Order: sequence, then structure tokens, then C-alpha cells
Amino acid sequence: MSQPLIVPSILSADFNRLGDQVREAVEAGADRIQVDVMDGHFVPNFSMGAMFVTAVKQAADVPVEAHLMIERPELFAEAFVKAGADVVIVQVESTYSLYRTVMAIGEYGARAAVALNPATPVEALLEILPYITEVNVMTVEPGFGGQRFIKGSPDKVRRLRSLAPDIEIEVDGGIDVETGPLCVAAGANVLVAGSAVFGHSDGVGAGVRALRGAVG
Ligand code: DX5
Repeated sequence: MSQPLIVPSILSADFNRLGDQVREAVEAGADRIQVDVMDGHFVPNFSMGAMFVTAVKQAADVPVEAHLMIERPELFAEAFVKAGADVVIVQVESTYSLYRTVMAIGEYGARAAVALNPATPVEALLEILPYITEVNVMTVEPGFGGQRFIKGSPDKVRRLRSLAPDIEIEVDGGIDVETGPLCVAAGANVLVAGSAVFGHSDGVGAGVRALRGAVG
């Protein structure tokens, strides 16, 4: 099995030094960068728009995924692809037309991924699985960084892996050197980490290296 991917999410970054921190994460071995997009409706927080995808792409030559924690992502997905997003993650709970949205993201030239909130069963993906290459299993209720990992998450990852042996399974929320290995053992192969990387006491690079060391 190839090494799990490490994907720092910039919600917890120091926005006074975003470019430097992105470069530090990439130089330390980050495989992608995630931009956490929030609209204040789908989640009780407001964060950043497509310009942050462009800023990250300008800071470093690294794939960027835009996690749209917003209502009606179909209205905004194209703008994020045009801004440079290589992957667009839409929440299964956020749109009435998930199939059309997933297909449109592919037509725009990006990869489509679908995210599940903690209380959404993996079975909600059954009909869309053939059309996507990545699933994001939220291991916290989305909206804020630094939350506590939901301890039943590895079992959910295990059940999803049994349904989808070949898909990228990304875990997102409360992922650190303790919880990351639990998720990898359950079948996750992409780890999103915000506060464990950008809040690491020895700096961003140390945060990436610590996570890599914990999961191999
Ligand atoms: C939604 C955000 C967070 C972030 C990870 O809440 O999207 O999941 O990516 O934040 P940490 O790693 O600090 O829990």
C-alpha cells in the first residue's frame, strides 16, 4: 500500500504569512493543500472564497482541493475550478442535484469528490460512487478547526472501504499523530489536518513531518 497522502487545510494557517506557510508545508512533504470554504449557512462559520485557491496555487506548485462547505455548491464549483482547484469536494447534504454537480465538476476540468457529515451514513454514497474518485469522511462536524475527533469515525471509514475498495478515502477533522494512524488502519489513505499542522509548536514543517512519521 502506498503512503497515505498528507493534506494540510489552511483554515488554521496564519493568514499574515499564508504563502510562506504553504511553501513550508509543501517543502516538508505535503501532497495537496485544502482550502476550507464556508458560507455561514451550511456551517455556522464563514471563511474564504475562490481567491484563496488562486493564492495557494501562486504560493506553491501543489494540487489544491476546494472543500465547499456551502449550500448549493453547483452555483460556485466552476469559479473554484477556474481559480485553480484540482479537486472540488461537495457535501452530499448540500445540494439537490449531486449527480449533475459531480458531472459538471468533471466537465470544468477538475476531479469531483463528495464529503459526508458525521451523521450521514456511507450508504448515502451508493449511487454516486461510480462517478467519483474520492470521498471525504468528516471526522468532526464541519465549521471549525481544532475540534475533537469523533471516535466512531474509524468504523465508518472501515464500512466505506468495504463498499469502495479502490477509492481515495479522505478523513478531515481532528486528524493528528494519534487519530491519523487509527484512520489509516481502518482504510483511509488521505489525511486532512489543519491545527495539527499549522498549530504545531515547532512550526508547519514539523507538523507535516510528525504526521508523516505517525502514518508512514
Ligand atoms: C471543517 C474544517 C476542518 C479542517 C480541519 O471543520 O474543514 O475539518 O479542515 O481542521 P482540524 O485539523 O484543525 O480539525
